[in-house]
Amino acid sequence: MLRAMKLMPLSEKREAIAQAARRIIDFVAARPDAVLGLATGGTMEPLYADLVAAHRAGLSFARLRTVNLDEYLGLAPEDPNSYHSYMARHFLDHVDLPPENAFIPRGDLEPMRAAAEYAGVLDRLGRIDLQLLGVGENGHIGFNEPGTPLDAPTRVVDLAPLTIASNARFFAPDREVPSRAVTMGTAAILSAQSILVLATGEAKREALATAFDGPISPECPASYLRLHPDCTVFADHAAGAGLMRLCA
Ligand code: F6R
Repeated sequence: MLRAMKLMPLSEKREAIAQAARRIIDFVAARPDAVLGLATGGTMEPLYADLVAAHRAGLSFARLRTVNLDEYLGLAPEDPNSYHSYMARHFLDHVDLPPENAFIPRGDLEPMRAAAEYAGVLDRLGRIDLQLLGVGENGHIGFNEPGTPLDAPTRVVDLAPLTIASNARFFAPDREVPSRAVTMGTAAILSAQSILVLATGEAKREALATAFDGPISPECPASYLRLHPDCTVFADHAAGAGLMRLCA
């Protein structure tokens, strides 16, 4: 079985987040004009706080270009539940990254057009230098849900029932969680030069164990990361407890 993913020694949650953030901070300091792929979700909120703190301590994002993995369809950028709003709230409003350098799919366009436009953005930017990823409880990366082939393009996707249920925690009780999204495809994710995965909490244990130790299969898109030559995984004890191999 291939095991190209590099697992960093498991640590406490705060430490795993700090280490992943440090990796990004060092990367931006060394490559200030790079293309950085970004993720959203609960896992990443404290990581963005660390990036904002680094900016306040002097790190500039002014020459960076960022590309997000995904956006819900049906939500306008100004909707508080959109990933545009998430990125503004947790990162973009607090750093010197020019708004025109931050790319996120549009959730308010006609779906096929939103996907085609975002695919065009990714084509124009070229290869992503470093891609940050979280992992879904079902092993998704971006919104590439179980069943996604290795070479899927950037496209419109139906969210898995587990993803919708899990993301409901971010929505007010009277709001419906979107069931469709535009996601960067596995092809673009896997062609990034380097990949950094952050997984914390018990809910990620099974997905992480399958990604590392199960078959490389569409049933767990995170398992495709084993085929990538430079993928580093930061996990806390809770997420990593099911791993057969405990450190790099
Ligand atoms: C977010 C994304 C997703 C999340 C994943 C984990 O842009 O693409 O793959 O990284 O669903 O989400 P949390 O961190 O909320 O558990």
